[in-house]
Amino acid sequence: MKKSFTIIIALTLFFNFSRAQNLLAIPDTLSGTNFNLNIYDTSKVFYTGYTTNTFGVNGKYLGPTVFLNKWDSVSMNVFNQLMDTTTIHWHGLHVSAKNDGGPEIFIPPNTTWNPKFKVRDHAATYWYHPHLHMMTNLHVSLGAAGLIIVRDSAERALNLPRKYGVDDFPLVLQTKCFNTTKQILINNASDSVVMVNGTLKAYLPTPAQVVRFRVLNASSERVYNIGLQGNLTFYQIGSDGGLLNAPLALTRLRLAPGERAELLVDFTGKMGQSINLMSFASELPSAIYGATQPGMGPGQVIPGYTSNVLNGANFNLMTFSVVAQTASPVTTIPSALVINTPWSIANANGFKTLTFTPVNMGPTAIQGPFLINNTSFNMNVVNYSIPLNNIEVWTLTNQSPIAHPFHIHDVQFYITEYNGGPAPSYLAGRKDVVLVPAGQTVKFIAKYETFCDSTAKYMYHCHMLPHEDAGMMGQFVVTCPINVGIEEIDYKMEDIILYPNPTSDKIKIKSNAYQPISEITIFDNLGKVILSKNKLLQNENEFDLITFPSGFYLIEIKTSKGIIYKKLNLIK
Ligand code: C2O
Ligand code: CU
Ligand code: CU
Repeated sequence: MKKSFTIIIALTLFFNFSRAQNLLAIPDTLSGTNFNLNIYDTSKVFYTGYTTNTFGVNGKYLGPTVFLNKWDSVSMNVFNQLMDTTTIHWHGLHVSAKNDGGPEIFIPPNTTWNPKFKVRDHAATYWYHPHLHMMTNLHVSLGAAGLIIVRDSAERALNLPRKYGVDDFPLVLQTKCFNTTKQILINNASDSVVMVNGTLKAYLPTPAQVVRFRVLNASSERVYNIGLQGNLTFYQIGSDGGLLNAPLALTRLRLAPGERAELLVDFTGKMGQSINLMSFASELPSAIYGATQPGMGPGQVIPGYTSNVLNGANFNLMTFSVVAQTASPVTTIPSALVINTPWSIANANGFKTLTFTPVNMGPTAIQGPFLINNTSFNMNVVNYSIPLNNIEVWTLTNQSPIAHPFHIHDVQFYITEYNGGPAPSYLAGRKDVVLVPAGQTVKFIAKYETFCDSTAKYMYHCHMLPHEDAGMMGQFVVTCPINVGIEEIDYKMEDIILYPNPTSDKIKIKSNAYQPISEITIFDNLGKVILSKNKLLQNENEFDLITFPSGFYLIEIKTSKGIIYKKLNLIK
């Protein structure tokens, strides 16, 4: 009796030491409309006695969670204090190409990049990360990434958990390779250390009620097959760019690099239990990074892959320790969420086919590089020019031996066809990443709206970061319907004309009878209103800026069809 008691104590101690032991880090938050993100070289202790070099954003590893409200006009101050050039891309947000932070929007060391944009996205979980060509994997792996949570009125109207860090938790999933001195290594398949929000062996006290998790796969390559210990049911409520029509009951969810999912777990009545969040990678089919076989057959090899203990194994991501309920808990799973209305294929006026192929044939094909339509990324080539307001169907065909998570900037899309059938339910919502299995075809539909610019580019690429860095990427521009000869920062409707621009004093703003102007507001570069007019008798309006200093001004023009913004350059 006494002996077995000792054994139980010993086992419990062993169990606790060998299992999750670190309280899950919850990233700090930033909210408002003016955001400061400082990126710098720093370090963090992941392992006692070792200092790991990292890239921090306002912290040591991973940046703060940025809360945005739909329709707010926000200003981002991204201060690069690294020794390296970088960029910051707002993954999933619909912003103009100049504000998008792609590989050409360099932020040199010791400079600040200050994009300003209006939040037009649906409530969902997005993220920001560097996008410097050939350096994305390194910069992201070192920790320069963070979440963006967009809120909107449709989401607020639902009875969902939304107290950040209380009943609404971010879970940034990553696997890493550390060398013997515990430095982060990239470009190999030895990513055998799991971290959630930068925490190794994490546990989280979760209240015994309905809890929301915003899960991001921020891994360089690994695909997770998420599930709960004991095959407990959970509910997916959102995908990359918005809520689903209704919660989807699941026991597994496949999440590829770049993808997000919002999940609800009902912990009601489970107080005192420990429940692991796992990746059931043993169930992944072949030809997915993370499965037993990363390629179609055993002939396809990646050095280091088979000795990585996570591959093909069911492993813990973290542990939920269920604790007492909070005040006013959410205890029910809603029956309906929002109404998604995908564009109809009948309305599509553009069609593209993108085929993924390996550069090498034979057993090393899987190691990359990979091509899209037989070409590798070239910064000087615009692969597609898409007329503003086109609705396009893109067909992605993967003729390589490994699944690729395809990502596109500017838009959220809906999957119209998945391996010859309709989109599986977990992929039915708004998406900006889709895993295209080896040998299969996926089609999606999207509208290229709001922003046009004949020179600033948007990217599309594989979100396995070594693949992207090695050139599995292309770029497109969205072209404007008429050449108005001015720099558009938020071009929407063809018929608003502002002239002359640049100007030294007066400007005229003109519309046509189809979209009468109701209000014009001019802001200085600090966002302060300097002039506004709302009693407009005709559609030719003159403003005199003679008393204002040189610089850029933002002009907001409200018309019967919506609001547009134009940038005015005042030169004295
Ligand atoms: Cu998450 Cu082009 O990136
Ligand atoms: Cu992106
Ligand atoms: Cu890829």
